[in-house]
Amino acid sequence: MSISLDRFGREAFFRFVKRAADRLSRWAKEGNPISIVSHVDADGISAVGIMASCLYRLGVPFRVRIVPWLDEDIISELSSDFEGPFVFTDIGSSYMELLAKELGTRGVLVLDHHPPSGPPPPGWVEVNPHNHGLDGSKDISGAGVAYLVARELDSSFRDLAPLAVVGALGDLQDTFNKRSLAGLNELAVRDAVEAGLLKVSKDLIFYGRETRPIHKAMAYTTSPLVPGITYREDNCLMVLSKAGIRVKEDDRWRAVRDLTDEEKERLLEALRDFLASRGHPPSIVDRLVGTVYTLTREEPWTPLRDAREFSSLLNACARMERPDLGVAICMGDRSKALEEAMELLNEYRSTLAGHVARALSEPGFLEEREHIIVLHGRDAISDRVIAPVASILSSSMVGKRKPLVAYAFSENGEMAKVSARRPPDLVGLDVGAVLREAAEACSGLGGGHDVAAGARVPISELEKFLSLVDELVGRAMRA
Ligand code: C5P
Ligand code: C5P
Ligand code: ZN
Repeated sequence: MSISLDRFGREAFFRFVKRAADRLSRWAKEGNPISIVSHVDADGISAVGIMASCLYRLGVPFRVRIVPWLDEDIISELSSDFEGPFVFTDIGSSYMELLAKELGTRGVLVLDHHPPSGPPPPGWVEVNPHNHGLDGSKDISGAGVAYLVARELDSSFRDLAPLAVVGALGDLQDTFNKRSLAGLNELAVRDAVEAGLLKVSKDLIFYGRETRPIHKAMAYTTSPLVPGITYREDNCLMVLSKAGIRVKEDDRWRAVRDLTDEEKERLLEALRDFLASRGHPPSIVDRLVGTVYTLTREEPWTPLRDAREFSSLLNACARMERPDLGVAICMGDRSKALEEAMELLNEYRSTLAGHVARALSEPGFLEEREHIIVLHGRDAISDRVIAPVASILSSSMVGKRKPLVAYAFSENGEMAKVSARRPPDLVGLDVGAVLREAAEACSGLGGGHDVAAGARVPISELEKFLSLVDELVGRAMRA
């Protein structure tokens, strides 16, 4: 096999971006409807927001399908009721063979950042950072790839850059210095700043920093999960009082943004003391200071103003089975859709809070094995929220050098949905590869990124699957 070196690096990646934009322009001129297929999470919805906005502005009719995964049934349903070309965003690369079998002769663009499972059939255009030696798990998200194609299509589409920032934050790609985005995501950040749509600053990243009383913002912060603080308004008030911070100004609650620098320092110090006194690593506090992305054109006091909150709003829409609301918001709806989505967000947050609290306090949920920690969600945690529950729990496992493997039974009672999360400092372990191999050996399907992966396996094979994951992680750690 010959490997052509000119496929590698940013320049090559951008050649594919251009190729995709050219293909889209051609389809736009032909005027046939285009089908956008995307992944049901904040990144996937942001990607749809970008792609659908482009097509809308170009006057191209389109339809949108948002799916949790792809399998033969879903793909044949997609193709049987639609004749035109397809644009896949934030999904597709890891299902290339299945897609090619069903859609091989159709016009298809895949704009993704998941590790590819194989080359696309001739005539398709796939834009994926992994194909060019770039890192799809932290350099760019699905929305980011869609955005680069959008700005290539028409430079006036740069006003869509904030959605690429929201998508990248939704996929937790803020893993660089002080929780910032870097790599190719930086292009979207820069475009958004230049367009006057985004302000980037270093600050406390408490959730709701613009909108909520300080103790609530602290208690609502789940990334990272701060033991004793997340979901515990009573303890938050106690820590604030120890730090000598007034929570009210006259009759009004103060928000995090009202704190002086000196008060912020005192608060962090008090949090460190609080964690240390309960035997938790105080270093968790370092992750509460970071890069804040403010969407300056969004109304203050709404969850769209802070890009991290925007992404959790979209996530809530996705997980509560109303991705359409998220798409409407990304396309500019600030009335009814926003109101409904905010209600969903409240419901979603209390669901997550309940699951996380139970998993941490009731016996039988968490089990430490030799190389992994298992979260037995069984039918106590819905398969719709097992992934965010896994993300939140793993963010509290600082110092545990084992990945978290969570599962929940699917509603049909036959399959289990698995979500695995690797602690960030456990370099050298690719949970995507582990889940793929283990699921395949257990009549299932799995895959994903090095830090976060998922799978579906029959419940009857679950125990075998978990043992195999444990063994494969052990082997990878020794390598
Ligand atoms: O499908 P996709 O790539 O869009 O999603 C990545 C998933 O991985 C998200 O659900 C995100 O929350 C999770 N993730 C994580 N920890 C990381 C990176 C990603 O939990 N460090
Ligand atoms: O569902 P969950 O958020 O746990 O998935 C983590 C990551 O693994 C996501 O990026 C998801 O798209 C990916 N994944 C995959 N192939 C699968 C299952 C999940 O690439 N079969
Ligand atoms: Zn993604």
